[in-house]
Amino acid sequence: MKLLGIETSCDETAAAVVADGTNLLSNVISSQYAIHAPYGGVVPELASREHLRAIVPVVRAAVAKAGLEYRDLDAVAVTRGPGLIGALLVGVTYAKGLAAALDVPLIGVNHIEGHIHSVVLERRAEGSDVEFPAVALVVSGGHSHMFLVKRPAEDTYSYSLLGRTRDDAAGEAYDKVAKLLGFGYPGGPVLDRLAPYGNPSNVRLPAVRMKGNDLDMSFSGLKTAVRRFVERSGLASEIKARRRLMASGQPSFEALQASAGTLCLDLIASFQHRVVRELSRRVTLAARDREFSSIIVAGGVAANRGLRKAFESSPIPCHFPTLALSTDNAAMIAAAAHPRLVRAQFDAFDLSADPSLRLA
Ligand code: KG4
Ligand code: ZN
Repeated sequence: MKLLGIETSCDETAAAVVADGTNLLSNVISSQYAIHAPYGGVVPELASREHLRAIVPVVRAAVAKAGLEYRDLDAVAVTRGPGLIGALLVGVTYAKGLAAALDVPLIGVNHIEGHIHSVVLERRAEGSDVEFPAVALVVSGGHSHMFLVKRPAEDTYSYSLLGRTRDDAAGEAYDKVAKLLGFGYPGGPVLDRLAPYGNPSNVRLPAVRMKGNDLDMSFSGLKTAVRRFVERSGLASEIKARRRLMASGQPSFEALQASAGTLCLDLIASFQHRVVRELSRRVTLAARDREFSSIIVAGGVAANRGLRKAFESSPIPCHFPTLALSTDNAAMIAAAAHPRLVRAQFDAFDLSADPSLRLA
């Protein structure tokens, strides 16, 4: 069974074909990175316009790269939320039109469920599987959620929310700190690459303390602590120079590294250390009172090397997606829809986009 997945919830227009929930036949991603970078974040109107421009060629490329024709598709799956409403609408509307034209079922998918299934897809493609129940940490620019995921029967998944961020998402914190330090957008990848060059013990940032549900997370205090440190520490001229460097084009990683003094590198290392600790500590706490057989870490921040390292010594099997499937893609949307195709759980053509869709 061949499923076409479509993803347009934020700033990537993506389409992919997955066969039988295990075989990734194509995975096409058109990133809007260069369009939003000058603004230091995603501009919703520009995102919708770019999706509109890219959706037809991206889907066409995904079908062609899979070696298929449109008529070979058995269903069309699309992200229906959460995300930017204008961006989601482009994907949902196109998917509805395509499914109607091909006379195949339509399946609306939750983007967060998609991130979890990026891992399930890759394990199955290797001939193995994720062990359930699993604790899933989904960390990206838009969300930081932890779920308990169960699979009571083949192709049946259930999700319960264990904790979520009370303020910023983890990726959002990376992006805001990178912007503050003059590193442009998105900030996660560059801060992650720079972190090993600093010494985290040289800059003390406060540990996050949560009251109430201790599985909830918080990142805005950390971001404020970084801002205060920058104000006190005389980094302003370095940051100004880096902003000029960024404005002059797309500087290489080596040029960015050379622009960062020891204190700035120590600050980045300390920030990364705190975020990684915060995330790994929540998973450890979740493990304390619950029975589960594996850990899934997914979403853009799952690309983080520090986070991957922190889970390396986990006594419980811990699954990360490959880097290609960590950030937004449509393979994960097709993979999450596969169980619904098997169980013939389809959506009607009045399916609507929901910018604040919840998984649990
Ligand atoms: O999942 P994703 O592509 O889009 C959303 O659904 O938000 O995640 C993008 C986010 C951005 O905030 C980006 O800075 C962050 O993931 N990110 C990283 C890394 N790579 C991407 N954060 C930390 N370390 C990384 N290596
Ligand atoms: Zn995402």
